[in-house]
Amino acid sequence: MSAIAPKLGHTVAGIEFSSVLLNASGAFNASLFNELYPLKEVMGGIVTKTVTTEPLAGNLQPRTVELPGIGMLNSIGLQNPGLAYSLEKDIPALKALGLPVILSISAHSSAEFAKMAETALSHANGPMIEALELNLSCPNVEKGGVHFGSAQDSVREALKAVTSVFPKPVFAKLTPNVSDIVSIGGAAIEGGAAGLTAINTVLGATIDIKKRKPVMPRVSAGYSGPGIKPVAIHAIWNLRKHFPETPIMGVGGVSNAEDVLEFLMAGASLVQVGTICFRQPMIFKKIAESLQAYCVAEGVASLAELCGCAHP
Ligand SMILES: Cc1cc2nc3c(=O)[nH]c(=O)nc-3n(C[C@H](O)[C@H](O)[C@H](O)COP(=O)(O)O)c2cc1C
Repeated sequence: MSAIAPKLGHTVAGIEFSSVLLNASGAFNASLFNELYPLKEVMGGIVTKTVTTEPLAGNLQPRTVELPGIGMLNSIGLQNPGLAYSLEKDIPALKALGLPVILSISAHSSAEFAKMAETALSHANGPMIEALELNLSCPNVEKGGVHFGSAQDSVREALKAVTSVFPKPVFAKLTPNVSDIVSIGGAAIEGGAAGLTAINTVLGATIDIKKRKPVMPRVSAGYSGPGIKPVAIHAIWNLRKHFPETPIMGVGGVSNAEDVLEFLMAGASLVQVGTICFRQPMIFKKIAESLQAYCVAEGVASLAELCGCAHP
């Protein structure tokens, strides 16, 4: 056993993360403060559920369907209490955990994104927000959503608009539902993104063979969980290859410490954990313990050493 405990965290985009592990946006519901409290020792930061300017009620039920062994489909439709409520109530509750809080926001236009960023910045609780994550990629809303995030121009403009008013790091969360995620990532960086988050859910659908109808009311939904892990690694690898200086938060199908190691080696600096939390909300503890054990066994002093190490 090494005398010194290996470091699980590092500084990314100027923010000190005590662990590479964060939750993926939407992975915890409204009672997230209670759920996250026992995990504050092993998580490096918190990402809020995406908020919009006004509260959203979300889509019709069913909103989630489990796909045994491979993940789930969700069509929540960005149900959220709205930016004002989030700033007033959620941000201070999350900040009490003592971890960096990343506010996830979604909007229909660059101007709306910028207005949200300004509102967050000027709010009394604004200083509690360490960074923004722009959800450019929700597949489950009628307006904006995935289409916004699939054009280089709109992504570049959104990032420009936000980074010109928000002085802290801004991460762009990318959709995998595009033909070339690297060009979209490049546009986000040109617009001033301090980092990229890859990936949001993959578009998917499922049919109820008894009813002979789609299971989800909107037919298509967001596919997440173990089945999308290779899609995420493909995205992380290529983003890292083209933009080696830009930090990546890897997300998509992570269920255990081995998955985290794969993501880091592919080029992620931080790793978000989503769908598995619905089944095992305490999974962060187990993953962190296994990562510690791996580092000790392999003589790794800091997980940061592994970021991108699989690249030639
Ligand atoms: C129920 C559910 C709700 C989600 N809500 C959001 C959201 O509000 N904003 C967002 O950017 N991503 C959202 N996501 C996507 C996740 O943050 C993540 O990108 C995706 O699920 C892939 O990671 P995973 O396989 O670990 O879940 C949601 C995913 C699920 C399953």
